[in-house]
Amino acid sequence: MAENVERDIEVHWREEDYYEPPESFVKQANLNDPHIYEKMSLDNFPDCFTGYADLLDWFKPWDTVLDTSNPPFWRWFVGGRLNASYNCVDRHLPQHANKVAYYFVAEREEDPIVAVSYQELYARVNEFAALLRDYAGVKKGDRVTIHMPMVVELPVAMLACARLGAIHSVVFGGFSGQACADRIVDSESSVLVTIDGYYRNGKWLNHKEKADIAVKQAESQGQKVNHVLIFQRDPGHYGGSDLVEGRDVLVQELESKYRGARVEPESMPAEDPLFLMYTSGSTGKPKGIQHGTGGYLSYAAATTKYVLDVKPEDVYWCMADIGWITGHSYIVYGPLALGATSVLYEGGPTYPDAGRAWRIAERLNVNIFHTSPTAIRSLRQHGDDVPGRYNYHFKLMATVGEPIEPDVWRWYYNVVGKREAAVVDTWWQTETGGHLCSTVPALKAMKPGSAGPGLPGIHPVILDEEGNEVTPGSGEGGSICIRNPWPGIMQTIWKDPERFVRTYYGKYNKNPQSKDWRDWPYMAGDGAMQSQDGYIRILGRIDDVINVAGHRMGTKELESAVLQVPEVAEAAVVAAHDDIKGSIPEIYVSLHPGVEADDALNQKIVDAIVHDIGPIARPRKVWIVPDLPKTRSGKIMRRILASISDNREIGDVTTLSNPEVVETIHKLVRP
Ligand code: WTA
Repeated sequence: MAENVERDIEVHWREEDYYEPPESFVKQANLNDPHIYEKMSLDNFPDCFTGYADLLDWFKPWDTVLDTSNPPFWRWFVGGRLNASYNCVDRHLPQHANKVAYYFVAEREEDPIVAVSYQELYARVNEFAALLRDYAGVKKGDRVTIHMPMVVELPVAMLACARLGAIHSVVFGGFSGQACADRIVDSESSVLVTIDGYYRNGKWLNHKEKADIAVKQAESQGQKVNHVLIFQRDPGHYGGSDLVEGRDVLVQELESKYRGARVEPESMPAEDPLFLMYTSGSTGKPKGIQHGTGGYLSYAAATTKYVLDVKPEDVYWCMADIGWITGHSYIVYGPLALGATSVLYEGGPTYPDAGRAWRIAERLNVNIFHTSPTAIRSLRQHGDDVPGRYNYHFKLMATVGEPIEPDVWRWYYNVVGKREAAVVDTWWQTETGGHLCSTVPALKAMKPGSAGPGLPGIHPVILDEEGNEVTPGSGEGGSICIRNPWPGIMQTIWKDPERFVRTYYGKYNKNPQSKDWRDWPYMAGDGAMQSQDGYIRILGRIDDVINVAGHRMGTKELESAVLQVPEVAEAAVVAAHDDIKGSIPEIYVSLHPGVEADDALNQKIVDAIVHDIGPIARPRKVWIVPDLPKTRSGKIMRRILASISDNREIGDVTTLSNPEVVETIHKLVRP
């Protein structure tokens, strides 16, 4: 098993205590049928998932629930036709046109909160769809890259693409122009949607300049971008860099031309792609995770309803960024498909102070709250008394993205939730479209530190290196896999079906010719342990992916950025422990002979990472060392470096080709 997992298993935490969900919650829950697990057992697979698709409006019903004829390219609800934008917007109008879809809360507290109704969302989506189609020439099947922060125009742009049957590829706003370029190139987008700038921690960030870098870099790699469509953060006040004639246009300047435009939603086959979302894997190149329309939307809607317990009368706030999968499924597609009211917040959780989140919750009467362990840890740092000063009441709280320490879980439950809320720790991935392991909040007790069992219809299994099942309760860890397909599962990796099969099914499929889905367990790439009660504790990634503040990063991506610095000979990235972010990158580099280490070089290395990826990948430390510890076959021993970073026992170094360097590095890092 991978080094980081072995290390995590050593870190024991008490996870045996159960917390029952509050009775008030159970009584009102969307899902409180105790027989749901039997009803969604493998005996009833795949028909048990039709109830999820029934949450949507279909232009044409499906003929086949699941086509498994070409494993592992599962096809859900085949023959059905629908449109995601129609399901998220139009169908709510007859009853709920005036209901709030989003409350937009700007980072600047003095700015008024903007309520966007479903009617207004409908108007904006149609107008932008018309602009995309008639001005930028976007057609069904085209890819559109959207590089934007948390503003209402982001879901508007996504839904406008979906309306036309175009495939959106949203790039997290904090990513650099270079990272955006890589995604434009891979997806072959000729249209980029962006914004002039936005506010972050009280500062105005020029975002348009990233578009200039992205387009230039993309073009140097052969991908021409014909149109850059620029929203303005404060309409009328352009705050970006110069506009390039013929390429750049301010969306608001075209507004009058498209005001009142209406665009028929395309009737899409259920299996046509809805979007791409790039995510890090074991290699240096992010992969374009492709999600379909019918299966994905059904699964996002159903898990929003049954796990997050979102109801029409609720006010739901997910603090994630729409630029990640959590935002796609649980700020945009799931909640909108259900006609819910959500908060869309521009800023970070503790700006200008740790009471900000609770003031928003109090003011808007938020009763469902969704965030990450990193945000919880950083709120906790500001003290136990802050949440109690505000008059808000949550019925449900969710966490996602990283393992949550039982201690942090308890703080969330006791202090943030005031012991009134059910808590769900939801484990899933970009690839899975929606939650896989979590308690169903009204049906299962909560267990701090444990995500919970597989959701109804999801059948996890832990496998060892040889593919044998690890017995639940044995205390052994292994690789978590899901035995069966489910509607939210990714369709493929964009333009790389072989990598898709190899990455997720290569290790545990014993018979590549098999047409039986039972031979194709989905391998998530996480280490996990299952206890006797079926609850699953996620231990962390078993591949070369690190999780920083809930954000997935490939160590190879960081290393290849560092290796672009000409002075650097070799580089190794390790995930060092961080009290707030869970882990944070530290970089060990050796230099070419004759090169002197100094602060300027150190800065150059950091800059290379920020340039290629973005500030979220900024390392805590760059250690310039004489050599990296290696095995006799030349493999860099990152485990040893991680032990030094975390000040842990280093263990046996006798098998190294250069054991003496370990002592030198140790002295340097921990003098
Ligand atoms: C990790 C985010 C522990 C895990 C939805 C997974 C978690 C990766 C949890 C996916 C959780 C996500 N407990 N670890 N509740 N949720 N992870 O694709 O390692 O950005 O493989 O999707 O985050 O990250 P991604």
